[in-house]
Amino acid sequence: MDIHVLTIFPDMFPGVIDASIVGLARTRGVVGVHLHDLRDHTNDRHRSIDDRPFGGGPGMVFKPEPVFRAVEAIERSISSDRAVRRVLLTPQGERFTQPAAERLAKADALILICGHYEGFDERIRTGLKPDELSIGDYVLSGGEVPALVVIDAVTRLLPGALGDERSAPEDSFSRGGLDFPHYTRPVEFRGMRVPDVLRTGDHDRIEAWREMKARERTRARRPDLLDSARPERDRATATPETSQTTNGRRKP
Ligand code: ADE
Repeated sequence: MDIHVLTIFPDMFPGVIDASIVGLARTRGVVGVHLHDLRDHTNDRHRSIDDRPFGGGPGMVFKPEPVFRAVEAIERSISSDRAVRRVLLTPQGERFTQPAAERLAKADALILICGHYEGFDERIRTGLKPDELSIGDYVLSGGEVPALVVIDAVTRLLPGALGDERSAPEDSFSRGGLDFPHYTRPVEFRGMRVPDVLRTGDHDRIEAWREMKARERTRARRPDLLDSARPERDRATATPETSQTTNGRRKP
């Protein structure tokens, strides 16, 4: 997969994308992360990417021209048989969840558009018809940190990204609820013991214990996830609320 990021702060990405699973996945060629400075797609002396809002009010609004130009240039660089998704990071978007990450992971390429200031000219939404994603009900300074969240959550789902292919499906949320508790050595630490069942070697009992603990934890901390629990096969094939066809390209 290739992930293209359109941002006015490309310097916010190195470090995070160099480390851990994303860093390894990039080294292994599982994912490519390509940073595009929105200012490179302006054509005025000041390289302006925003302007004052029509109708007055505080703050600045992202201009449509540089964003359209940048997205079109990025798409020209991607082979036309590849499934591309445009994604706008905005607090007004659909909530980014594990099923949303699973949907994005099916694409061949993502274009993540990071906004700033008061927002976007509405024509960026109506003209480019991106998926719109929010990472939570709070307002951040821009879409860069949300884009990093999306890059991380999607990359770890790509085949070859994790050392152990079983890890991703067993995470919290992938099974529709929270994860079970994990233990390693020592067997006893400051008076706290590893549950005996985990040391029996009886895989059926261990699996039953883990399922029970995962359900208990989900009920106690996130009962909303139990309400929305659905069979695993549904979750993997859920379709997005918002859908787009990018210039007639195939869309996953
Ligand atoms: N931009 C600013 N806040 C955001 C959020 N919560 N999610 C996605 N993009 C954002």
